[in-house]
Amino acid sequence: MARRSDHGRPDDPPAPGGAPVTLAFMNQKGGVGKTTTVVNLAAAMASAGRRVLVVDLDPQAHATLHLGHDPADLGASVYDALLEPDRAPDAVVESRHRLWLMPAEVDLAAAEAELAAEPARTARLGAALDTLRGRFDVALLDCPPSLGLLTLNALAAASAVVVPMQAQFLALQGLSKLLETVRRMSHGVNPSLRVAGVVLCMHEEQTTHGREVVADLEAFFESARGTDAPWADGVVFRPGVRRNIKLAEAPSFGQTIFEYAEGAPGARDYQALADAVLAHLEMLKQGEPAPPPAVVVRATAEPARPAP
Ligand SMILES: Nc1ncnc2c1ncn2[C@@H]1O[C@H](COP(=O)(O)OP(=O)(O)OP(=O)(O)O)[C@@H](O)[C@H]1O
Ligand SMILES: [Mg+2]
Repeated sequence: MARRSDHGRPDDPPAPGGAPVTLAFMNQKGGVGKTTTVVNLAAAMASAGRRVLVVDLDPQAHATLHLGHDPADLGASVYDALLEPDRAPDAVVESRHRLWLMPAEVDLAAAEAELAAEPARTARLGAALDTLRGRFDVALLDCPPSLGLLTLNALAAASAVVVPMQAQFLALQGLSKLLETVRRMSHGVNPSLRVAGVVLCMHEEQTTHGREVVADLEAFFESARGTDAPWADGVVFRPGVRRNIKLAEAPSFGQTIFEYAEGAPGARDYQALADAVLAHLEMLKQGEPAPPPAVVVRATAEPARPAP
């Protein structure tokens, strides 16, 4: 299935402005739905006409495998691009129509250690993506479940952060730490970094606990409106993605949910979510204020709620 991409395809006009919208899908907690969201949003955005690049920044190579590519069969990877940013074009594989992949490989774990000794160690991914300007409209970065150097590279390169998470009280605690990392990056190497919002994964809308956590999240974003916090325009994206077994099965077939089970709730949720994310990005581009969240129960300054 993997085809080495021919650069500068004549049917691909350069993206306006040259630089893609680059979204880092980040949560240091494992198993929250980052990869599932990156792969299926990428597929939905590609079918909506965007030229999409998925960058697999996780040594587990789950996004690479989910898209049906064997990391062992591929040539250059994101590892090579990080160590030698000029090699990034060699590391791009055409995966689907309008969907490209910069794959991971297991050596990526070693890259993290090697990078630590390099100059500009958090700017490597940004430099790699710079060599691809004009080829993509959107780049989706699948981060590993840690706040290490690979994730910091994503934050340094991204225009915005999207946080896949479950609506659970303990997840809110992790969010505070994550946002602190984003704030540090926005005060340092990437002043234009923003938090686009939260994607609710494996979401159970019908539970009281889930609804309360979502209300807290929305109140948190609302309380930041008009401030200089990177999450001042953040939203809880709707719809939440329901728990759907087809989403868990699709990776073992190397297929997106749209290929594996087009009519499944998971496909409908990710299709609608892609529309919501694209609309939000469009609105941010035009500098319009974000709409108020649908439900605001109480305003809290921090994304944490005292235990009942
Ligand atoms: N909405 C959903 N319904 C059912 N299963 C899901 C859903 N979203 C994700 N999963 C499953 O949950 C598991 C974790 O999801 P995923 O791999 O996307 O998380 P992750 O945050 O990328 O994990 P890691 O931190 O290890 O990279 C996977 O087995 C995935 O198939
Ligand atoms: Mg993952």
